[in-house]
Amino acid sequence: MRGIVLAGGSGTRLRPLTTIHSKHLLPVYDKPMIHYPLAVLMLTGIREILLISNPEHLGTYRTLLGDGRDIGISLSYAAQERPGGLAEALLLGRDFIADQPICLILGDNIFYGHRLPGLLREEAKRLDGCTLFGYRVSDPRRYGVATVNAAGDVLSLEEKPERPRSNLAVTGLYMYGKGVADRAARLTPSARGELEITDLNLQYVHERRARLVDLGRGTAWFDAGTHDSLLEAAMFVQALEKRQGIRISCIEEVAYRMGYIDRDQLHLLGKELSIGSEYGRYIADVADECTVPADFS
Ligand code: DAU
Repeated sequence: MRGIVLAGGSGTRLRPLTTIHSKHLLPVYDKPMIHYPLAVLMLTGIREILLISNPEHLGTYRTLLGDGRDIGISLSYAAQERPGGLAEALLLGRDFIADQPICLILGDNIFYGHRLPGLLREEAKRLDGCTLFGYRVSDPRRYGVATVNAAGDVLSLEEKPERPRSNLAVTGLYMYGKGVADRAARLTPSARGELEITDLNLQYVHERRARLVDLGRGTAWFDAGTHDSLLEAAMFVQALEKRQGIRISCIEEVAYRMGYIDRDQLHLLGKELSIGSEYGRYIADVADECTVPADFS
């Protein structure tokens, strides 16, 4: 399975923070937002990743992340000229996808959960059609909303409905089997001029090939697209990291624990980030540990 991080869009809801900067480079406590979705893909076992962003920001992403070799992955880049919709990512990434199964994640989505990586790996293995990940929210009108049967088959899907049929929001993490780019190519722009991910997902719903996995209570999910949710996500990360003395979605640590890089490389990365920074010190400390915790799954 390959992965796409979609990190374009206009970021209008976060202006003036995003007047100059890409939203997905804003800090979420101790690291840029883009690290969080990247870590999710890496924890799923995905090492070939395409990052899509606006042409004016691509250079900054390249400077920050390079070709991914340092963390044992392969990163490539593509430009989205204007916000043409979430499903456009699958067209822009058509050559990259090369008819492989694909996991698409939105650059402003932050996930955390002890069981999440294992769950995502399982779902990647059993993928047939499309798999969505749902999360119970108090304000479903802001999201795609699904209803499902007991087996997890999606029965209905609506984008930002006035009167939601459930509290189950569709998160910005999507897995698709082969042929998804052809499906995306058949979409027509919606009234707001975008290729809608919900329209793509509805194709699978109508064929009864859409499954939704409820992430449940044990997972945290934020979409950091508003000032409040950006702050809430940062405070969540801060609380967890301070209490436990760990760092979450630390891509260097994930690379090491997933076996993408060895201990020497992790040491080097810690040094490069500067041992003077707490983040760099943390990485060096992880490299000094003797064992990989058994619960890192
Ligand atoms: O976060 C989950 C929600 O994401 C889902 O529940 C909705 O079904 C889905 O449509 C989407 O809703 P949003 O209103 O959050 O989408 P938004 O337009 O804010 O875009 C989400 C991210 O994708 C954001 O980081 C910007 C980026 N983006 C967006 C568009 C439209 C792009 O990179 N390119 C685009 O063309």
